[in-house]
Amino acid sequence: MSETELAAWWQRGVIYQIYPRSFADANGDGVGDLRGVIEHLDYLNDGTDRSLGVAAIWLSPFYRSPMADFGYDISDYTDVDPLFGTMEDFDRLIGEAQRRGIRVIVDWVPNHTSDQHPWFTESASSRESAKRDWYVWRDPAPDGGPPNNWQSAFAAVGSAWTFHEATGQYYLHSFMPQQPDLNWDNPEVEAAMHEVLRFWLNRGVDGFRIDAIYRLAKDPELRDNELGIRHDEDWPTIHQRLRKIRAVIDEYENRVIVGEVYLLDLRRLVEYINTGDELHLAHNFVFFHLPWQAAAFRASVQEFTELAKQSAWPAWFLENHDHSRVATRYAAAPESGQRRARTAAMLICTLRGTPFMYYGEELGLPDAHIPPDRVVDVDGRDPERSPMPWRRPSLDGPGAGFTTAEPWLPVITGAESLCVESQQQDPRSTLAFVRKLTHLRSREPTLQSGTLRLFDAAADVFCYERELDRRFLIALNFSSHRVPLALGGDAPSSAFLELSTHPGREHGAVDLQDLVLEPDEGLILRLSKAGAARS
Ligand code: NOJ
Repeated sequence: MSETELAAWWQRGVIYQIYPRSFADANGDGVGDLRGVIEHLDYLNDGTDRSLGVAAIWLSPFYRSPMADFGYDISDYTDVDPLFGTMEDFDRLIGEAQRRGIRVIVDWVPNHTSDQHPWFTESASSRESAKRDWYVWRDPAPDGGPPNNWQSAFAAVGSAWTFHEATGQYYLHSFMPQQPDLNWDNPEVEAAMHEVLRFWLNRGVDGFRIDAIYRLAKDPELRDNELGIRHDEDWPTIHQRLRKIRAVIDEYENRVIVGEVYLLDLRRLVEYINTGDELHLAHNFVFFHLPWQAAAFRASVQEFTELAKQSAWPAWFLENHDHSRVATRYAAAPESGQRRARTAAMLICTLRGTPFMYYGEELGLPDAHIPPDRVVDVDGRDPERSPMPWRRPSLDGPGAGFTTAEPWLPVITGAESLCVESQQQDPRSTLAFVRKLTHLRSREPTLQSGTLRLFDAAADVFCYERELDRRFLIALNFSSHRVPLALGGDAPSSAFLELSTHPGREHGAVDLQDLVLEPDEGLILRLSKAGAARS
């Protein structure tokens, strides 16, 4: 069997993240919902190249939640929050997605519950509660302060401990006080959370994105963090815990787990995927946080490739619901944001590994401007969660086809030209480009599972080759100047241009010696197996 046939569904195609609050509002309350997702499944994959052709969607939490962290504070893991719809809506979503060949990955948030979850209410009811040990409770330090120096991941929160007057102890929360950490040292907690996985697997989900997985194992002695040594995350016990999670997943066929491994150290990241019995995929935040420089991306991809075993599969992403969007954070000037968004999409879709795309990334959406009186998130993440602009505000009203009501967050200012409707009518748009890109990837097994080899080129150009049954050369200009490609070494002299991020670039045979990249331009060039041009 060839390598192509061996590639699993989660290796071949694009995985598209939907933040349900912001994707599409079907019931007119200003907040997105599951019916809204169902209504737009054809946009994601209708089986033709007029859609994005995604392989799977990953849904951020839609479970019952008081929404202190907009769904990442869960009060019932096995029910749909009424804001998002009903369990019937969810079942229909699975069925409609399956009909279109779209897999469904859901978020699993095992590190913490909501403080409104019955487990926590019971745990907080008394020191003698049967569920007291389901969370992390400790006596105050001798001075009455928190038990150790651990801090919440959210700067605005400060200490990771909150004092509970009624029972006279502190409880641990790695995020907001409304998100108490579960005690994973307690086997009952572990078993209960495994049951949550089985519940959704039995309902037909294809996998999970695991929230804050690196937080699931902490120093059981709760020692202070020191400079360079963290005791509140990535404790060695994580790997045994992860293997047990994987064993639950492997009770079912063809499922996937992708972990939010927010560790800014590739050596530690690869430990989550190298053994083959832990995560299938790990979100790589080192890559995510790179500066927009060819040399930085080249070095990081090379380091990852050296550290990861050949059997470990990479995942690449540059946007999610927690950070500024590419078109804003990588913009050198107003006009380069859109151009770089296209080049970034080409990068994640052509490296060896699974690309993750965040809703609106295919439109090159920038962050939204959030006036002070509209700020709702504790950690400044509202700008990247702005509603999906489907239609032109001048024709459809200020909700831009996302909602008929006041949207829960402001719509971006450029919605008139950046919305789906406008971009769909423009063959030079970012959306038109991304559709060509994802379809090229789905047509070409080489782009899905071919080998990766880095190529020397001009300093501002990140260049690599993919090879399987075909050969492709990808060249990405990370500068906003025109740059000669300047291929080094055993480079071929000619190629066939398959796709450019630059709408004016003509397709066809090109001479690689003379090739000059436009500002911020990315190219996919097909090489003949022998190195000569083939059209
Ligand atoms: C990571 C999620 O992506 C983020 O949105 C959330 O606030 C924290 N984990 C806590 O669940």
